[in-house]
Order: sequence, then C-alpha cells, then structure tokens
Amino acid sequence: MRFDIISIFPEYFTPLSASLLGKARDRGLLSFGVHDLRDWAYDRHRTVDDTPYGGGPGMVMRPEPWGQALDDVLTPQARLVVPTPSGRPFTQKVAGELADASHLVFACGRYEGIDSRVMAHYSSVVEVDELSIGDYVLAGGEVAVLVMIEAISRLVPGVLGNAESVSDDSFAPGRMERLVEGPVYTKPPAWRGLEVPAVLTSGHHGRIARWRRDEALRRTAERRPDLLAGLDRADLDKHDRRLLESLDLAEHPDPVAD
Ligand code: ADE
Repeated sequence: MRFDIISIFPEYFTPLSASLLGKARDRGLLSFGVHDLRDWAYDRHRTVDDTPYGGGPGMVMRPEPWGQALDDVLTPQARLVVPTPSGRPFTQKVAGELADASHLVFACGRYEGIDSRVMAHYSSVVEVDELSIGDYVLAGGEVAVLVMIEAISRLVPGVLGNAESVSDDSFAPGRMERLVEGPVYTKPPAWRGLEVPAVLTSGHHGRIARWRRDEALRRTAERRPDLLAGLDRADLDKHDRRLLESLDLAEHPDPVAD
C-alpha cells in the first residue's frame, strides 16, 4: 500500500520509519512519500496562504499550490484524505475501508484550513474524505494524519503478525464494533497485593472468552455509555443481556430494553 503525504512540515513524519510501520516498510508492505507543499508554490517567498475572503482571523491555504501538488501526486486509483476538525469522524470502520485502498494521499492543512474549492474540484477526480480524529482542534493536520496512518496500516494484511488478531480489538467490526476491550494482565500472578483474576490462569478457554466479553461490556457501560446505547440487540447473546441487566444503567438508555 502506498501513502503520500503533502504538508508544509514534512519533518513531522519521521516517526513513519520507526517501529511497526518502519518494519512494514522495510518488508515492502507499505511505502511512504512525504512532500513539501512549498515545492509547488510559485512565488519567490514560496507563499501558501492568504487572508480569508469575508474577513475574520487567521489565514487560509491558497488553492494553486495544492492544485499543482495534487495533480502531480494523485493517481487514478488514489483516495484523497483531508484531515479537518469539521470532517466526518475517523473510526475503526473508516480505517478498515481505507486499508482496502492501494493508494492514499493525505493533504495536511494548517491555519484555518485549505480553500474549499480544492476539495470540491478533486471530488470529481477521485474519492475525497474530509476526516476528523476527534472533537478538539489541533494546530494542523499532520498529527491527525500520523494517527490515521497508524490505525490504517495495522489493518493492512501482513503488517501485524498472525498472533495479533485485530478482530478482538476495541471497535473491531463484528462483536466488538460498539465495545471497548476490558483489562489485560501478564506475569507475575500477584503484584503489590493485586492478583490476576483467577479465571485467566484456569486454562479454560470458554470461560476466559466469556470473562473477557463481560469485562468489555462492563467497561463500555462505565466509560462509553454513548457506544452501549447504540448496541444492536441482534449482536447480544443471552449472557450479554443478563450481564447488562445486572449493571446499573439507570443513567443511560438500556440497550436490552424492548
Ligand atoms: N486538524 C485540526 N484538528 C483536527 C482534528 N481534530 N482532526 C483532524 N484534523 C484536524
């Protein structure tokens, strides 16, 4: 899978050669191109921004350097991703959809964002996604793009080892789609007076799976009632329902109620 990133701060992307992503790149599973938008600026000062039409604070990125850059970097099969706090939410599901693409191009805005005509124009050329990584405002799209690339890359076949299944992850499509994972433990069995739950050392795979599911439901109810409220009845088994009924969900809409 090929990633191209266009930014006025290409140095933000050195972490792409570290850790999991660096290894996947060395193994030929992923490749990255990082481009400086100013290479496509046409004036002596390599200007990429200007004051907003209609007035107001801040600066807006001019369309011409973006047009030159994207004409050079996009391919017919590429999808264009523009990180912005006003985008549709970037979720595990969206990460999975983007992991199916062969070429992703990320356009990092700074200041008040990119002139909207850029997204309007390229929408008739390739698929364009304006995406937000959360309800807060960053100084620019670079960090959001690092977040998205890491989430997408680990879903590309071969990037994770077989042992690291993604189907049990929080938010994984299927039975974990609207759940977060419960607590995890490793050795030693007792630490500072705290013991590992006995079921995990029982060797009973069925009971361990059930315990993990219960803990995921419990933790989601406590920390993410917004997710639980949207759980589909069809995705709950008899044990799930019993567990949810035993929790105090008074504060939240009851997903098991008719
Ligand atoms: N750029 C600034 N804030 C952002 C956010 N929350 N998500 C994506 N891109 C952004």
